[in-house]
Amino acid sequence: MFSVLVLNGPNLNLLGTRQPEVYGSTTLAMVERACAAHGAALGLDVTCLQSNHEGALIDAIHAAKGVHAGIVLNAGAYTHTSIALMDAIASVELPVIEVHLSNIHAREAFRHTSYIAPVALGQICGFGAQGYNLALDALKKHLSEVPPA
Ligand code: DQA
Repeated sequence: MFSVLVLNGPNLNLLGTRQPEVYGSTTLAMVERACAAHGAALGLDVTCLQSNHEGALIDAIHAAKGVHAGIVLNAGAYTHTSIALMDAIASVELPVIEVHLSNIHAREAFRHTSYIAPVALGQICGFGAQGYNLALDALKKHLSEVPPA
C-alpha cells in the first residue's frame, strides 16, 4: 500500500463557501473524506493537510520525502507565484500531481502560469472536487508502473 499526501494551499480551507460559482459547494472536509475513501479503494493510504502559509507547505513537501510515495497538490494562488514551492518539489523528487478545481487556463491571464507544472507529473484542472480523485487514479497508476526507490 502506497502512502500519499493530499496537500492543499491557501484559502482552500474555505471551500464550500468561497466563490461557490467558481469552486463549487463541496467543503474541504468533504474533499478530504472523498480522497481517503477513494484512496483506500485504490490501495492508497491518504494523509491530508492544508495550510495558508507558503513556508508550511514547503515544510510539508520536505517532510513527505521518505514518508509518502507521492503528492497531490493544489497550491492555490501560490501556483502562480511560488518559485520556492517549485524548488521544494524539484528537491524531494517525489511524483506530484497538480490539481485545480477550476480551469485555470480559462480564467484571468495571471492564472495561466503555473510554477508547479514544470516539476509535476501532470496537471488536472476544471473538474471541481472530482479532480482530486482523478489525481489519485493517475498517481496510483504511476506508482504501480514506477515504484518509489
Ligand atoms: C485554484 C486556482 C487558483 O488560481 C486559485 O488561486 C485558488 C484555487 C483552484 O483550485 O481552482 O486558490 O487552485
